[in-house]
Amino acid sequence: MCGQNSLELINELSKENLDQYCNKEDLELLIINILDIDRNFLYRENPTLNENQTILLKKSIVRRNLGEPLAYILGNKGFWNLDLLINQNVLVPRPETELLVEKVLSFYDSKPLKLLDLGTGSGAIGISLFSERPLWDVYCSDLSYKALQVAQENKKNNQVKVYLIHANWLNAFCKNSFDVIVSNPPYVDQNDERLLEDGVSFEPLEALVAQEGGLKDIKHIILNAKKYLRDNGSLIIEHAPEQSKDVIDLFERNAYKNIRQFKDLNGDDRVSFGKIIKK
Ligand SMILES: C[S@@+](CC[C@H](N)C(=O)[O-])C[C@H]1O[C@@H](n2cnc3c(N)ncnc32)[C@H](O)[C@@H]1O
Repeated sequence: MCGQNSLELINELSKENLDQYCNKEDLELLIINILDIDRNFLYRENPTLNENQTILLKKSIVRRNLGEPLAYILGNKGFWNLDLLINQNVLVPRPETELLVEKVLSFYDSKPLKLLDLGTGSGAIGISLFSERPLWDVYCSDLSYKALQVAQENKKNNQVKVYLIHANWLNAFCKNSFDVIVSNPPYVDQNDERLLEDGVSFEPLEALVAQEGGLKDIKHIILNAKKYLRDNGSLIIEHAPEQSKDVIDLFERNAYKNIRQFKDLNGDDRVSFGKIIKK
């Protein structure tokens, strides 16, 4: 096994791993990560893994086949235009959340504004937004100190000037102070079968699950964000598709205007928008 070429290893191991979590694409990414090369180099040069690298690959395959998300094994995940450091203290950023980033960027140009990313986790949303809009004041908050440590690493690695704040939702902030509040809060019901999907059981439960059928944190944020928004400020929030009616209802009952919902790539309502008019 030692001194084997990457492409032979991929072929051999993908046959052994049929019906397991670790598929051919995962194998490619693991080898690329271990050898610190890119995909072109892998297929052009077919480099050899030494004994230690082969042992590391085998250990990584075992972890992946136990269901651990590839992002935790690799220690990073691509999100928007960034390569984010990821560990078990943060949710693995999802492609659906890029819809939220895309919408915020489509609504607001590069003029300075003050934005809060509530429940920032790895910093995925706030750091992506700052990387596109460096004149914005971006605040990223989380209740988890461990998540904020990951966001701090991502802030440093991406050389972005965002403010990281420890807070229980909005309790650390001043009222009437933000132009935009964004959030991808925990919104999964504790009995939801999605908690059993590939890799999810390895993620922090407090980043995923909310009481009241998954709506507790969404309700709290919609109810309270309006006090922390300036006149004409907006709240943009991610939720599960089946929560879309409840979310619209909550926006309406809390006097948000110009309420809109946006679909993810699967055609499901995933992100909701509402504006607060104070004057
Ligand atoms: C679904 S994750 C989103 C992480 C990241 N924004 C993303 O989109 O990948 C929800 C985040 O909310 C944080 N959170 C949970 N309860 C919170 C609270 N009471 N106050 C602030 N953050 C909280 C969790 O620690 C977690 O990082």
